[in-house]
Amino acid sequence: MCLVSKLKFKGRDIISIRDFTRKEIDYILKTASTMEPIAKSGSNMLQRKTLATIFFEPSTRTRLSFEAAMHKLGGSIVGFAEAEMTSVKKGENLADTIRVVESYADIIVLRHPLEGAGRLAAEFAGVPILNGGSGAEEHPTQALLDLYTILKEKRKIDGLNIALIGDLRYGRTVHSLAYALSLYEVKLHLVSPESLQMRREVLETIKEKIEVVQKTELEKILPKMDILYMTRIQKERFPDPAEYAKVKGIYNINLETLKNAKKDMTILHPLPRVGEIAPEVDETPHAKYFQQVWNGVVTRMALLALVLGAIK
Ligand code: CP
Repeated sequence: MCLVSKLKFKGRDIISIRDFTRKEIDYILKTASTMEPIAKSGSNMLQRKTLATIFFEPSTRTRLSFEAAMHKLGGSIVGFAEAEMTSVKKGENLADTIRVVESYADIIVLRHPLEGAGRLAAEFAGVPILNGGSGAEEHPTQALLDLYTILKEKRKIDGLNIALIGDLRYGRTVHSLAYALSLYEVKLHLVSPESLQMRREVLETIKEKIEVVQKTELEKILPKMDILYMTRIQKERFPDPAEYAKVKGIYNINLETLKNAKKDMTILHPLPRVGEIAPEVDETPHAKYFQQVWNGVVTRMALLALVLGAIK
């Protein structure tokens, strides 16, 4: 398959969304759209290639969508979803684990609780490393599928009013997404309790590029929004359970909240949700978070095909 690009993806690590230019991101999104029919028909584009998914933290979507993507492109899969059942339990470190797994795979997707784990793995690996989530730091492939979803729903990204809502401190998806959106002409509304405001280094970087507004309340800005990107409060990353208790359930979208929304306003969520969006919202035309899950498959098909050189 040839989409004719001078951009170089073959053999690249994907550790941070900041490693990409807007042109590169746009190319990935275009490639993802070409994967829509292939995801249904299947392909042997990655025949004889093997993906390793090594996950040191729980995951449903990231691991399974990468695995589904590899299957749909004719490749095979090895890996683990629970480090407790591997030699990590006997004391094997991450660098050695990576050096071992690269003998079994052409590409590795890593999820790890430590920030910087993806970068470290890439230093030791002789095959490309895709960061499937590094602690509270970044989740670059999620940001790409989020952008793909926005583009698919709105036919554009520039000019939109986008609200990132909830845990902007510990939520890795919003860090990567905010960096990515700062490459587009959007107005970004950051809605969180004060204790969970966007990490300083992200905020400082994006403010240099786009208009950013910080709020603690959603109600007043909601009528102007084109996209609401809801997030879960990341209970597992709070050092103090009492601090979590103060902010638990702070934002909730339900049918009442949506009365003031634009008719074509889109609600996204990286999932899992734990109460931020009432189930009654799922039946409204605003809810696109389950379509977002499908978009994760085609976006990750595009990434695997590009990084493994099946698309030039
Ligand atoms: N969105 C996301 O990263 O979900 P999982 O934790 O289930 O992979």
